[in-house]
Amino acid sequence: MFSKLLLPVITVLATLSSITEATGRTHNGHTTAPRPTIKPYPYTTGKQFPASPRRTRHCFVDALGNGKDDSDNILAAARKCNDGGTIALMDDLYIIGKALDLTFLKHVDFDIQGTLKFVPDVAYWEANSFKFTFQGANTMILFGGEDINIFGSGKGTIDGSGQTWWDGYAKNSSIYRPMMVGVSGMKGGTWSGLRMINPPNWFNWITDSNDIIYDNIRLDVFSVNSNSPKNTDGWDTYRTDNVIVQNSIVNNTDDCFSWKPNSTNIVVQNNQCTGSHGMSIGSLGQYDGVYDLVENVLIYNTTMKNVGSAARIKVYPDINPNVPNNGMSGGGLGMVNNITYDGMHINSADWAIEVTQCYGQSNRTICTEYPSKLAIQDIWFKNFDGVASKKYDPKVATLVCSSPNVCQCIHTDNINVKPPSGKPAQHVCANLYRGFLKTLNCVDS
Ligand SMILES: *[C@@H]1O[C@H](CO)[C@@H](O)[C@H](O)[C@H]1NC(C)=O
Ligand SMILES: *[C@@H]1O[C@H](CO)[C@@H](O)[C@H](O)[C@H]1NC(C)=O
Ligand SMILES: *[C@@H]1O[C@H](CO)[C@@H](O)[C@H](O)[C@H]1NC(C)=O
Ligand SMILES: *[C@@H]1O[C@H](CO)[C@@H](O)[C@H](O)[C@H]1NC(C)=O
Ligand SMILES: *[C@@H]1O[C@H](CO)[C@@H](O)[C@H](O)[C@H]1NC(C)=O
Ligand SMILES: *[C@@H]1O[C@H](CO)[C@@H](O)[C@H](O)[C@H]1NC(C)=O
Repeated sequence: MFSKLLLPVITVLATLSSITEATGRTHNGHTTAPRPTIKPYPYTTGKQFPASPRRTRHCFVDALGNGKDDSDNILAAARKCNDGGTIALMDDLYIIGKALDLTFLKHVDFDIQGTLKFVPDVAYWEANSFKFTFQGANTMILFGGEDINIFGSGKGTIDGSGQTWWDGYAKNSSIYRPMMVGVSGMKGGTWSGLRMINPPNWFNWITDSNDIIYDNIRLDVFSVNSNSPKNTDGWDTYRTDNVIVQNSIVNNTDDCFSWKPNSTNIVVQNNQCTGSHGMSIGSLGQYDGVYDLVENVLIYNTTMKNVGSAARIKVYPDINPNVPNNGMSGGGLGMVNNITYDGMHINSADWAIEVTQCYGQSNRTICTEYPSKLAIQDIWFKNFDGVASKKYDPKVATLVCSSPNVCQCIHTDNINVKPPSGKPAQHVCANLYRGFLKTLNCVDS
């Protein structure tokens, strides 16, 4: 009776989530970690995440030590354990001295218990990183393929040796700083229990991928001198569908999460961001004639501390870059559609909400002369609380469109972010219908 009832429940759980291994294996005094069970919570995208079958063997990589490059051995283990195995990186420190192309993966896990550290060799990475055309993105490592779980069990760390790059940037701002971890062509995957520190540029660059969950990730940057960490976005998605980022803590110097062109069905929930430029859709419409889409996004329950903007949507107006106007970009087409920011708890933000369709064009007269061809529609900002920063006091939010025709159904409700002076909060509203802006106190500029 009992087992009859229990069996179907177990079957359902097994298809919904990763299967936990019963017992660990021991190698050189370290025990393999079980693959964690990861579930979208409390919200999901409404799309399926594929089941991940149990892995049946381990490939251990022994670190060479003494600063020697471990990348060849990691690549060899990935080949050997591909299609059903787990690559176990259990020593304290692994050195990545060569560009690692891991886009051939299939049904494979990485159990990372130590630190993977990229060598800070600017000349090598400039010549050998993986290059993408979008915004000069390039990465030192690339993960791709089908059904991949990368877990750090709260111990595993990826270290980008960013200091060397920030110091280099201070001397020459043209050095070609790589993103730290690249994901390209990944179909189904989880990342969990990992800490990532000090990327030369963005932390996670995710392109042409789908069905990926990040859970319990910690991102930190810290400089030991006066050269600040440069860029350091948490996650950037591009041409990517169906992603969840949850239960993560980010302390960085640029966007916490950034939705680049063609990012769809993404839920970002229960995260904390410190020092960032916000949860940022865009910038979009940067390339003349190119169509950019961002739709079906939920940003739920975010704590924001010492940020530039908390909730941010940035779109270029329709100014052709070939027309001389201070050399700015713009002129792209597309749509930002069905975006909800629900629950922002703010401890110092210059703007609690920043919507601009005049990105790159501070002269509003020119912006409204060239309304954006990239529409912003069906947007919700609700349940915001906390205190803004002194910067624009008593203004705490700005929503500036280029024309009401291309900015429709933008809603706010229950926005309770106060300026630090204690004055009544003001919100800049331009070129959008004010009837949907509940609890705002709109001013023109
Ligand atoms: C700055 O870095 C770029 C990219 O590596 C290089 O082409 C250029 O020569 C460097 N400039 C100087 C002054 O070193
Ligand atoms: C964020 O990082 C900065 C620089 O390392 C540090 O001073 C600050 O204490 C950190 N804040 C949090 C909340 O981790
Ligand atoms: C919001 O997220 C925090 C973690 O940042 C979590 O502790 C808290 O339980 C979440 N609250 C809700 C209502 O989901
Ligand atoms: C985005 O997707 C649309 C189709 O929905 C396509 O026409 C467009 O080229 C894509 N844009 C980018 C930047 O890939
Ligand atoms: C809007 O986006 C949310 C969040 O991804 C999704 O759950 C919902 O189904 C979308 N609505 C429509 C009409 O597609
Ligand atoms: C903005 O642009 C208009 C039209 O070109 C111009 O007349 C005006 O002086 C500009 N304003 C500022 C502040 O530059």
